[in-house]
Amino acid sequence: MIKKIIFTGIISVILLSSCGTDDKSNQLISDSTLGFIKSDVQKDDENLLGKMPQYSNKAPGTATKIERSFENAPPMIPHMTVGFFPITKNNNICLSCHMPDKVSVSGAVAIPESHFTDYRPKLKEVDGKYEVDAEEGEVFSKKLNKLSPTRYNCSQCHVPQANVTVDIKNNFERVFRNNASKTSSDLDKNMDEGVK
Ligand code: HEC
Ligand code: HEC
Repeated sequence: MIKKIIFTGIISVILLSSCGTDDKSNQLISDSTLGFIKSDVQKDDENLLGKMPQYSNKAPGTATKIERSFENAPPMIPHMTVGFFPITKNNNICLSCHMPDKVSVSGAVAIPESHFTDYRPKLKEVDGKYEVDAEEGEVFSKKLNKLSPTRYNCSQCHVPQANVTVDIKNNFERVFRNNASKTSSDLDKNMDEGVK
């Protein structure tokens, strides 16, 4: 154990010192300027951003879908969400419009099949330890007849988008294999892509 700690220590020193050979990393950045905003981040400055970011104020049903950031990315929420958060055990207003049996009335996009599927393999006990009960490369998927509890907290993955401009160039290039995947998803059909 002690040997392991010493070894890890040596490796870290080597790694740190090799980083140090890069000229720029020698210049220390003060923690009060560690941010993208040109202001002291430790100051409670109301004008830090110039003005507060604006979220969509469009009521559900009047918003325009935002194109996905990449194929099968969780879509961003295009409509206003005032009063929708926090999502609690007894109150999840998203379900009242997005559950598949509600969309004919609400006009919302139905929660996809992937959210009604359990992708967590069962565990088996082997010699007092738990192991995943699935073959290497096997994609475990079990259809549930209800929303998977892992999907209940929608805002863990789906968030509204604020209207902000950030002075950082984004070099990421979005590539879609078909036009439909810019505004809709098909993950449940492609979950094992690249695995099998
Ligand atoms: C009153 C009904 C209603 C409620 C409540 C609601 N939505 Fe929506 N949602 C819609 C509609 C309708 C759309 C389609 C865009 C539009 O017409 O405004 C939509 C679009 C979306 C989209 C974009 C889907 C896509 O394919 O691009 C996401 C994500 C979303 N909503 C998530 C949520 C979440 C998360 C909540 C809860 C915090 C929520 N919605 C609450 C009706 C609703
Ligand atoms: C763990 C992350 C996660 C959670 C939690 C989650 N989603 Fe999603 N959602 C995704 C991802 C990733 C996609 C795109 C791939 C797919 O279809 O699964 C998606 C897709 C969607 C779509 C688009 C469906 C389509 O046909 O294009 C809707 C609508 C949606 N989710 C609604 C919800 C609602 C409402 C909740 C809460 C009840 C929720 N999601 C919870 C990750 C999540």
